[in-house]
Amino acid sequence: MPRITLPRAGVAVGAVLAMLSLTNAAVNADAAAPAAAQAAGLPYQDPSLPVAQRVDDLLARMSLDEKVGQMTQVDRTALAAAPSDLATYRIGSVLSGGGSAPATNNAGAWADMYDGFQRTALGTPLGIPMIYGIDAVHGDNNVYGATLFPHDIGLGATRDPALVQQVGRVTAEEVSGTGIDWDFAPCLCVARNDRWGRTYESFGETPGLPSQMTTEITGLQGSTLGGPASVLATAKHYIGDGGTDGGVNEGNATLSEADLRAIHLPPFKAAVDRGVGSVMVSYSSWNGVKDHANHYLITDLLKGELGFSGFVVSDWAGVDKIDGSTGFTAAEVATAVNAGIDMVMVPTDYKGFVGDLKNDVNSGAVTMARIDDANRRILTRKFQLGLFEHPLTDRSYTSTVGSAAHRQVARQAVRESQVLLKNDGGVLPLSKSAKVFVAGKSADDIGNQSGGWTISWQGSSGAVTQGTTILQGIRSAVANPSQVAYSKTGDGIDGSYAAAIAVIGETPYAEGQGDRTGSMGLDQADLSVLAKLKASGVPVVTVLVSGRPLDIAAQLPDWKALVAAWLPGTEGNGVSDVLFGDYAPTGKLPMSWMQSASQEPINDGDGKTPLFPYGYGLTYGTTTPPTTPPPTTPPPTTPPPTTPPPTTPPAGSGCTALLKVTNSWSGGFQADVTVGNPGTSALAGWKVGWSMPGVTISSLWNGTLTQSGANFTVTNAPYNGAVSPGASVSFGFTASGTPGSPVPAPVCTAS
Ligand code: GLC
Repeated sequence: MPRITLPRAGVAVGAVLAMLSLTNAAVNADAAAPAAAQAAGLPYQDPSLPVAQRVDDLLARMSLDEKVGQMTQVDRTALAAAPSDLATYRIGSVLSGGGSAPATNNAGAWADMYDGFQRTALGTPLGIPMIYGIDAVHGDNNVYGATLFPHDIGLGATRDPALVQQVGRVTAEEVSGTGIDWDFAPCLCVARNDRWGRTYESFGETPGLPSQMTTEITGLQGSTLGGPASVLATAKHYIGDGGTDGGVNEGNATLSEADLRAIHLPPFKAAVDRGVGSVMVSYSSWNGVKDHANHYLITDLLKGELGFSGFVVSDWAGVDKIDGSTGFTAAEVATAVNAGIDMVMVPTDYKGFVGDLKNDVNSGAVTMARIDDANRRILTRKFQLGLFEHPLTDRSYTSTVGSAAHRQVARQAVRESQVLLKNDGGVLPLSKSAKVFVAGKSADDIGNQSGGWTISWQGSSGAVTQGTTILQGIRSAVANPSQVAYSKTGDGIDGSYAAAIAVIGETPYAEGQGDRTGSMGLDQADLSVLAKLKASGVPVVTVLVSGRPLDIAAQLPDWKALVAAWLPGTEGNGVSDVLFGDYAPTGKLPMSWMQSASQEPINDGDGKTPLFPYGYGLTYGTTTPPTTPPPTTPPPTTPPPTTPPPTTPPAGSGCTALLKVTNSWSGGFQADVTVGNPGTSALAGWKVGWSMPGVTISSLWNGTLTQSGANFTVTNAPYNGAVSPGASVSFGFTASGTPGSPVPAPVCTAS
């Protein structure tokens, strides 16, 4: 039973009366709520007033119970026994953790569930709407029948920020159709060690790719919050989740602050610059300190230096993990809230959390100023989203869930995510009249091709949702389906086939359950299939369905072709579009591909020699015109990332530099600079200079910047100074202003 909390001296009398009446209501939640606050048309209920004024008015009417409730987020299952606790404890947010779905899993049932919770929240004295969060990390993936996109590693391979913005928009429409208004996406993790079980949630191993793909935030939120199907986005997990020692999930990132800032911070800066509404804190630690307890990172760096004005949410039971023992204490709650966390994803023991936080305030461990700051941040986003005016599901979007138009966008994303790594003798594209044999555990398995975070938290093999398997795509692509034979195990193959397509790789996993501490090779089922195909003597085309690069160097010589398909989601026909030439591959590796697991971590510019370098990807000799509708967004024309154009470096310079604008918007742009070594001896270091009048660089990665007026100089970072003969490294930056036309040609000097 919540204790009555008397307001501190100095609070306006009217507000005191309002609060006392509210506090009474909180104590006797079942008593009829005082009509005044709901019917009177109070300032906070007036959408014509500035949001800041509405927030001030509402905050002044709130009791401590109300304020603590706004900072509390619970999973829907925690309310199953007592749904009215949402109102009794004034809980401000509900979530669905991975797989936490209504008994009937379809879009309409989700919308009904959402509206039920919302009506309960609106029934409280102040009628503050709740905000509902979900992990729609590759489409609205908890919902059966939703359109599922490639996971982020595949979207990074597209090098197409405009397409990723479209992915965000489609996801927002499907999420809105289920009522939900907050997406715990995108993950802006920079995955540095592919052993990490969340590598597939990363757009790439360099800060540049995740920074570029923050366009997903604009897709989700719209150009401003509160527009049609506007869904609050979340930049996660702040910070360094992809940089832990050994790639251990929730582990410790041993990094200098310079490297933390150079590698892991730029995507969050880009997200803040795009107006991301929330940031989720990482479970991981930085140099032994839990991110959830790090005031410097959350308050000084994120909110202070980067100017983040949204709200910070903990990860699932992230507060519990601060002291290393199960459950949370008032001390842990105080540490997390004082570090700058504004909302706590409890997610079940909300009574304990509310009690602890109120005790922390009453004891002075947490100031009311901190509580008010957190509430101000949360309420501002709720007002901006329009939740006070439109709290219930917009059912006009419910029918878009899994629609043909949305699936077409996903199919295009699958096409552009495919990376062709080997194509001996031009065996690809296959002829549509060829007799082909398809094998492998992931050829006809929508669960495997969708990966983790699909219907359930971990995902699972099998027909888990609606979509098109890769085999179904192949059968649709060829002239006559009878020319396609299929055996999951490879049994029955003989020499009569033009080619054997082996669709192999990983079965679904999520988070720590996907960590690979030992071998990163293929499993026995795949090796058995490959042995049968090899014995037949038929040319083998391998399609690797995996959440990361795998250790396949030993098998590669037996393959005529290799396509990295990543985790394509529900539209497996995007893979067959590439295999049969309806779309010539344009994908580029978002991660360096190891020669062996012993090389991990292996990253662009670290001096190690990968099997296939970051940015590598082949296409077909002649791009066959697509027989299906042209791509909705033409793939970006990127220079060959591994070797810059053969320009003669200025005498004695020893290196080349090519500046490419990768993304631009009114008032700003992003660029990548490729530094090449055309010589015959290795570079020990480099310096690149150029001038751009009227430009200010706001964030730069993979290098150290000095600016003097319009002149910019970047020297190599500690980890990418060594450049082997014929190799290249890159750095990138976000800037205000315009790059000019033509874009200046930087001068590179070996140092
Ligand atoms: C998980 C993940 C996080 C997710 C949250 C809610 O443990 O770390 O990415 O958003 O819990 O499901």
